[in-house]
Amino acid sequence: MKKIFDTEIIFNVEVAEKIFRLEISAQELSEIARAGQFVQVKISEEFTLRRPLGIASAKNGVVKIFYRINGRGTEFLSTKKSGEHLNILGALGNGFNTNVDGRILLVGGGMGAAPLLSAAEKLGAADVLIGGKNSDEVNFWIKEFQPEVGKIFITTDDGSRGSKGFVTSLLPEVLDYENFSAIYTCGPEIMMRGVAKIAAENNLPCYVSLERRMACGLGACLSCSIDTASGRKKVCKDGPVFDAEDIF
Ligand code: FES
Repeated sequence: MKKIFDTEIIFNVEVAEKIFRLEISAQELSEIARAGQFVQVKISEEFTLRRPLGIASAKNGVVKIFYRINGRGTEFLSTKKSGEHLNILGALGNGFNTNVDGRILLVGGGMGAAPLLSAAEKLGAADVLIGGKNSDEVNFWIKEFQPEVGKIFITTDDGSRGSKGFVTSLLPEVLDYENFSAIYTCGPEIMMRGVAKIAAENNLPCYVSLERRMACGLGACLSCSIDTASGRKKVCKDGPVFDAEDIF
């Protein structure tokens, strides 16, 4: 179910360099949003295209979104203050299945941890492996995931927090720690490809959340089309979550 909502900003704060946590008051959206879905945000009249942003949390009337400043639109969004209104279209896409038996391992790289946080919130049992460039890029994620998951595994490129290296280096060791029933992953495509390979070697189902440039966000313009093992698909409508076997 999707609708346009007039929402009010509660917080819009920088949590690491150029990374912001946006919290909006949106009762109905928080009730209908499923883990891994996204919204299209109208930044202002100046920007004709809405910006797709992943939902990181949706509960108790509050929807939480994390974004990195990577252009004029997100730069403008970062200047918005508490009490200002945001026009939001959502909730869009298919999301993660959170009605599952067994324990899920969430594997996130950088901003890819955002949709996994919404999955953690809805799953009964999950652990998370997060990778980032340095401690600043993972510290705020640790705080967000702590109330939602059992164990948190960390890697950083520079070794400033957790193990030095990539999530794919630590993943085999993490899989030894528990009998997981599936892996949900989101992050750079090269990382997800590596995660999917390790999942396949361990006979584990793996679901990936893809990011693509989007325009309409509704399956109408084809700008987010991709080739999959089961034909041409649209990331905004058929995804963003896909079975890794269909993608890699
Ligand atoms: Fe238009 Fe996906 S963004 S079809």
